[in-house]
Amino acid sequence: MISWRKHYRQTLIAIGLLLSTSASIYGQDGDPKNGEKLFKANCTACHALDKQVIGPALKGVVARLETEQGLGKDWLYKWIKNNKELRASGDKYANEVFEKFNKTEMQVFPNLTDKDIDDILAYTTNPPEPAPAKTDAAKDTANAGSANAAPQSSTTTNVVIISLLAIAGLLVWILLKLRQLVKLGQSEDLAGLNETRVKSFREIYEKYHYIGKGLIAILALLAAYGVWNWIMWIGVYKGYKPEQPIYFSHKIHAGEQKIDCQLCHSSAKYGKVSEIPSMNVCMNCHRTISEYNAEHYMEPGKDKAFYDGEIKKIYAATGWDPEKQQYTGKTQPVEWTRIHNMPDFVYFNHAQHVVAGEQAIINSFNKKNPNNKIDVVCKACHGKIDTMNVVQMANDFTMGWCIECHRTTEVDMNNGYNKEYFKNLHDKLKKQYPKDGGKITVDAIGGLECGKCHY
Ligand code: HEC
Ligand code: HEC
Ligand code: HEC
Ligand code: HEC
Ligand code: HEC
Ligand code: HEC
Repeated sequence: MISWRKHYRQTLIAIGLLLSTSASIYGQDGDPKNGEKLFKANCTACHALDKQVIGPALKGVVARLETEQGLGKDWLYKWIKNNKELRASGDKYANEVFEKFNKTEMQVFPNLTDKDIDDILAYTTNPPEPAPAKTDAAKDTANAGSANAAPQSSTTTNVVIISLLAIAGLLVWILLKLRQLVKLGQSEDLAGLNETRVKSFREIYEKYHYIGKGLIAILALLAAYGVWNWIMWIGVYKGYKPEQPIYFSHKIHAGEQKIDCQLCHSSAKYGKVSEIPSMNVCMNCHRTISEYNAEHYMEPGKDKAFYDGEIKKIYAATGWDPEKQQYTGKTQPVEWTRIHNMPDFVYFNHAQHVVAGEQAIINSFNKKNPNNKIDVVCKACHGKIDTMNVVQMANDFTMGWCIECHRTTEVDMNNGYNKEYFKNLHDKLKKQYPKDGGKITVDAIGGLECGKCHY
C-alpha cells in the first residue's frame, strides 16, 4: 500500500515534469538555420544527425531524452555547456551516457548561450531540406571565374609579344633584302662572283649594320627587363596555386563548414610560422567523416566519389583502417607544396601581426569592408581564402607590399605593450600634430627599419 502510494506520487511528479518540460520545449522554438551553422561549426566533429559517430546521433534528441529519460531542455543546456560539471554533480543520466560511450569526453562549450543551444536543438529537431544543388554550383563558377582571373602581370606578356613581333618583322625585311642581293649576284658573270660576294657582304654590313646592332640592343633590353623582374619577384608569384597531394578545399572547410582558420593553423598565434596542420588534426574530424555528404555543394566537374577518394587519402597517410576503426601503423607522409615562401633573408612573424597587430589590422581592414569581421586578420594579407577551393597567393608579398601597409596602418594604442612603450612618442606626436590626435602608424614604431625585416 505504502509503496503504491510512493509510486503514485512519483508518477504524478513525472507527469508534471513531463508537461512542464514539453511546454518549455514547444514554447521556445529556436532558429534551425542558425542552429545548422552552430552545429556544423561545433558539433559535426563528433555528431551526425542520423548515425552514431563519436557521440550519439542527435536527430530528434530533445524528444528522445524527454520520452526515454524524462529530461528536459534544462538538462540539455547544462550538458552541452559543460558536461563535465554535470557529471561531477552526480547527475544520473549524464554519467550513464558517459559510461555507455566508453568514457569518451565530449568537448565543453561554455560560450554557447541558451539561445544558441535552442537554435542547435531546433536544427536537430527540424533539419532544413538541403538547398538545391544548382544555385551553389552557379555561384561557385562565378567565384572560380574571378579567383582564376589572370593575376599575373600582363605587361610582361605584352612586352614579350611586341618584341617578338618586332623581331619577326626585322627577319622578314632581312630576307627580302637577301633575295634582292641573290638576284643581283645572278645577273653578274661567274668570274666576278667571288669579288662581288665579298664586296656585297661588306656592302651589306656597311649599309645595314644598324640592324644587327638594333637586334642586339633589343635582346639586351629584354634581358635587362627579365633580370629586373626576376629581382623584384624573388620567390613571389601572386596567383600561384600549385596542385596539392590531397584536394583539400578551403572553400568547403573554412567557407561552407565555417571552421576557424586557427583551428588548423593554430601556430599562427604563437610564433613566426603558421604551420600546415598535421594529419592528426585532420583525423580529429575525419575519423568519423569518411564520406562527403554535402550534396548541396560540389565543385562543377567533381562528384561525391571524387571527394570520398580524397578523404581516403587521409587514411592512407595516417594508416587508419576505417573498417576495423584502428591504426595499422603504416603511415605515409603527405608532402604539401609550400605556396607562400619568403626568401631566407626576410624575417616575417605571424604572431606579431595576428596577436600584437590584430586590432590595428582589423581597424584598418574594416574601413573598407565594414561588414566582414570573420577571420579579418588572416584575410587582410591572404585574401578570401574561404572562397578558394585551391589556395592561391592573393597579394604580391613583396617588400613594397609590407611597407605600404606599415605606412598606412595605425597601431592600436590600447594594446598593453604599445601603450606602455610608446607613451612618450604618442604624447609627443599628439603635441606635434594635434590634428590627427597623435596618429601612430607602424612605420613610426620602427616598421620601416631594415633590420626589423631583414636578418
Ligand atoms: C569531442 C567530441 C564531441 C563534440 C565536439 C560534441 N560532442 Fe556531444 N557527445 C560526445 C560524446 C562522446 C557523447 C556521449 C556521452 C559521453 O561520452 O560523454 C556526447 C553526447 C551528447 C549528447 C547526449 C545525447 C544522448 O543521446 O544522450 C548531446 C545532447 C550532445 N552530445 C550534444 C552536443 C552538441 C549540441 C554539440 C555541439 C555544440 C556536441 N555535442 C559536441 C562527443 C562530442
Ligand atoms: C581544416 C583545416 C584548415 C582550415 C580550417 C584552414 N586551413 Fe589553411 N591550410 C590547410 C591545409 C591542409 C593547407 C595545405 C594545403 C593547401 O594549400 O590547400 C592549408 C594552406 C593554407 C595556406 C597556404 C600555405 C602555404 O603553403 O603557403 C594559407 C595562406 C592558409 N591555409 C590560410 C588559411 C586561412 C586564412 C584560413 C581561414 C580562412 C584557413 N587557412 C583555414 C588547412 C586548413
Ligand atoms: C573541424 C573538422 C574538420 C577538420 C579538422 C578537417 N576536416 Fe575535412 N571535412 C570536414 C567536413 C565537415 C567535410 C565535409 C563533409 C560533408 O559535408 O559531408 C570535410 C571534407 C573534406 C574533404 C572532401 C572535400 C574537399 O575539401 O575536397 C577532404 C578531402 C578533406 N575534408 C580533407 C581534410 C584534410 C586533409 C584535413 C586536415 C588538414 C581536414 N580535412 C580537416 C571537417 C573537417
Ligand atoms: C601581415 C600579413 C599576414 C597576416 C595577417 C597573416 N599572414 Fe599568413 N603569411 C604571411 C606571409 C608574409 C607569409 C609567408 C611567410 C614566410 O614565407 O616566411 C605567410 C604564410 C602563411 C602560411 C604558410 C606557412 C608559413 O608560415 O610560412 C600559412 C598557413 C598562413 N600564412 C596562414 C595564416 C593564417 C591562418 C592567418 C590568420 C590567423 C595569417 N596567415 C595571417 C602574411 C600574413
Ligand atoms: C595588413 C597590414 C600589414 C602587412 C601587409 C604587413 N604588416 Fe608588419 N605589421 C603590421 C602592424 C599593424 C604591425 C604592428 C604590430 C604592433 O602593434 O606591435 C606590424 C609590425 C611588424 C613588425 C614589428 C615592427 C616593430 O617595430 O616592432 C615587423 C618586423 C613586421 N611587421 C614585418 C612585416 C613584413 C616582413 C611584412 C611583409 C612580408 C609585413 N610586416 C606586412 C601590419 C602589416
Ligand atoms: C616591413 C618589412 C621590410 C622592411 C622594413 C625592409 N624590407 Fe627589404 N624586403 C622585405 C621583403 C618581404 C623582401 C622580399 C621581397 C620579395 O621577395 O620580392 C625584401 C627584399 C629586399 C631586398 C632584395 C631585393 C628585392 O627587391 O627583392 C633588398 C636588397 C632589401 N629588401 C633591402 C632593404 C633595405 C636596405 C631596407 C631598409 C631601408 C629594407 N629592405 C627594409 C621586407 C622589408
